[in-house]
Amino acid sequence: MWCGVVAEEKSQENSESLLKKGYFCRLFINNMAKVKFYTGIDIPLEFHRARVVQKINLLSVDERYEAIKKAGYNTYRIDSKSVFLDMLTDSGTNAMSDLQLAAMMRADDAYAGSETFARLEDAVLQVLGKRYVVPAHQGRAAENVIMRALLKQGDVVPMNYHFGSTINHITLNGGRAVELVDKSAFVSASDDQFKGNVQIDRLIECIEENGVEHIPFIRMEASTNLIGGQPFSMSNYKEVRKVADKYGLRILLDATLLAENALLIIEREEQYANKTLAEIIRMMCDLADIVYFSARKFTCTRGAVICTDNYQDKLKMDQVVAVFEGYVTYGGMSMKEIEAMIQGLHEATDEEYVSQSPSFIKFFVNEAVKRGIPMVTPSGVLGAHIDAKKFCEHIPVKDYPASAVAAGLYLCSGVRAMEGGTASEVSATDPTIVADMELVRIAFPRKVFTLSQAMYALDRLQWLYDNRELLGPMAYEDIPGMVRCFRTPLKPLTDWPEKLIAKYKEDLGER
Ligand code: F0G
Repeated sequence: MWCGVVAEEKSQENSESLLKKGYFCRLFINNMAKVKFYTGIDIPLEFHRARVVQKINLLSVDERYEAIKKAGYNTYRIDSKSVFLDMLTDSGTNAMSDLQLAAMMRADDAYAGSETFARLEDAVLQVLGKRYVVPAHQGRAAENVIMRALLKQGDVVPMNYHFGSTINHITLNGGRAVELVDKSAFVSASDDQFKGNVQIDRLIECIEENGVEHIPFIRMEASTNLIGGQPFSMSNYKEVRKVADKYGLRILLDATLLAENALLIIEREEQYANKTLAEIIRMMCDLADIVYFSARKFTCTRGAVICTDNYQDKLKMDQVVAVFEGYVTYGGMSMKEIEAMIQGLHEATDEEYVSQSPSFIKFFVNEAVKRGIPMVTPSGVLGAHIDAKKFCEHIPVKDYPASAVAAGLYLCSGVRAMEGGTASEVSATDPTIVADMELVRIAFPRKVFTLSQAMYALDRLQWLYDNRELLGPMAYEDIPGMVRCFRTPLKPLTDWPEKLIAKYKEDLGER
């Protein structure tokens, strides 16, 4: 079994010739824990059982039409009770384990010096290998703490690629981000197994041009979110470390999607194939000076952690935490969440648990590609990503094709996906800004959806693709006093939603 769409197409070739061509991978994303089906069927197999469930509703297509109109055709604005499969994000929507829920009961709620915080320090040391822990209430709050403590006016932060909240905190503190992924990372259908890699020559150029005194750190984002959940390789990361050492710079690792990037290193990078997930996670953290993560994704809880071995950096960050987050042994999180996070840290090293979401995504992406739907390939993590520009070649970027696809998908399925393109990147000061990619993200929160639900989403996506010419242009519906952003409502510029619904009813009925 081979990873990546291209590699799968090559499955007729023998393994030796594939290895020579660099199509290496270790079996287990396709089929968690290497279980072969007797019939040869290639589907993901879960290593958990569901013992608590939550009822969800599938509205009729007319009710969905009312819901999306009320939401201003922006999926962020739809009430969750009107959503069938909530695939907007994996942030804070992952399933927690029995052991995480059990751990919450032993929380020590002490304001200062809680035993729970001491246990968190132990778990961080064990799993991530860092001595000092700085807590915050979520990922962007951790970014606020880091930037306020360690970045100064005029600084430059070289990075593989930005996440929205990161760039906000860098610019709010007077800094500037320089992105160093290769242009080819924006090509949706590709064989590049590591689109999150940094171009080393450009990194050196950036340091030489700006001077080390203006660079507080080099930021590496694991499983680069906004280009489709794409990993960086260990060998690229080691090169970045070499450059950092040469110039005496720190590395800041955004570990929000760390376990998944580590998994893809094991799967796609031959020399790490025999390492355990725990070992790769540890190696990735050892190569960084400061590691932070949003626990809404990593550890399947809430909150955030920053960790480092540098006591002076910790002290600077603690000062910001005490002003913005809470006392330095809870940082705005409840102790119950911290207890669940401790257990979640250990579970982040469990390949069978971690591979659930990437293997569902891989299955979904490969099936969508087989149906001709333009997806980001190789499949990444966090979600399956549709290339909306290719999906709707008839809608120019200025008319927000990704918003049209997300709205159309909700109308035909009740699935809530997320626009990840120009509509959400638009700048209040410069409306000519166009995003690097026009994506629609169908997120797979960890251990939440079943295979039949994934098949339903795929079925409706295929219907939408087959009827894509019915999708039409969108425009912003500005709210006085609201700066344009990802929460701004939109409106269709024609009656395309009504036409889409009429066709849907003809083909599939009322629901
Ligand atoms: N870094 C990365 C890579 C992220 O994906 C996120 C959040 C953050 C930082 C910020 O963390 O939300 O806890 O403040 N990503 C969410 C998403 C919002 O939907 O992809 P946060």
